[in-house]
Amino acid sequence: MPLVDSFGRVHTNLRISVTDRCNIRCFYCMPDENIRFKPRSELLTFEELARLASVAAGLGINKLRLTGGEPLVRAGLHQLVRVLAAIPGVEDIALTTNGILLAEQAQALRDAGLQRLNISLDGLSEATFQRIARREGLQRVIDGIFAARRAGFERIRLNAVAIRGITEPEIVPLAGFAREHGFELRFIEFMPLDAEQHWQSEQVLSGEEIRRLLEAAFGELIPADRPDPSQPATDYDFADGVGRIGFINPVTQSFCGDCNRLRVTAEGQIRNCLFSIEEWDARALLRGGASDEQIAALLHASVGAKKAGHGINSDEFLRPARAMYQIGG
Ligand code: 5AD
Ligand code: SF4
Repeated sequence: MPLVDSFGRVHTNLRISVTDRCNIRCFYCMPDENIRFKPRSELLTFEELARLASVAAGLGINKLRLTGGEPLVRAGLHQLVRVLAAIPGVEDIALTTNGILLAEQAQALRDAGLQRLNISLDGLSEATFQRIARREGLQRVIDGIFAARRAGFERIRLNAVAIRGITEPEIVPLAGFAREHGFELRFIEFMPLDAEQHWQSEQVLSGEEIRRLLEAAFGELIPADRPDPSQPATDYDFADGVGRIGFINPVTQSFCGDCNRLRVTAEGQIRNCLFSIEEWDARALLRGGASDEQIAALLHASVGAKKAGHGINSDEFLRPARAMYQIGG
């Protein structure tokens, strides 16, 4: 029985957070200090994650993405990749990382069967990096990106969160860098998921504004075809044919209507949306001797309760209690 919600959206995508920890402190995601991370015993083990993923695969989930926190701080992550890649029905495994630990791990991840990488890179200047991440690390990220290419990752995608008043000067250089080296680049609008709850709509630098900045620098951007209607990004090609750029505009152009994504937090709570208020406790089932059928029923319950959209722009919008690092991007 596939995971279809009450709006007819078929869910084929599971995003798995493997830790809430991170080695930097991006302000749009984490608090800088006084963080209470989940104790190790509360995180799903690799065995538990693999069981959950195989039940999900039995319900039509064919794409997995590992997230965090920062997934590469979870020891031995490539071993999880290997187990997940062997699950029948799993066709694609991707990873979202900040890149800091990537140079050391890229080859092991590739050899374990990881297919795609998204690396966060909001700008090319160390000053901007530190203003956002509140830690050093830009050069390690850049080294990680090139190490990933040497390890055999073909399609490497860079994700840049756009924040008004901070990242405007980064946009054109970042696009130039991506074009020069053949990386895909996607700009993401700042969403109200920062732990310190300072988000204000004025800080959202919209995808449309960025597109205009890029067109002024590089000429016309030509809409690319959309092979996967559930992809959050709207992609464009540069007029000279060199490079592709995408915009993920959750705030100004919500793409909830085609969402096919389900999430599990590091402590095994199923969420049907980044912004969902409700959660379904898979860990209790996994640790309580539940059958696969009971776990499947939980996934169905979560999908069945999914709302039409996040409603960020509505007056009734309620922020989830969790911040980005506690959900998984
Ligand atoms: N708004 C938009 N994107 C965010 N990310 C983290 N927090 C936010 C936010 N508040 C991005 C990261 C990374 C992915 C995990 O999500 O930059 O690319
Ligand atoms: Fe860490 Fe990613 Fe959150 Fe930045 S956005 S603090 S890199 S988990």
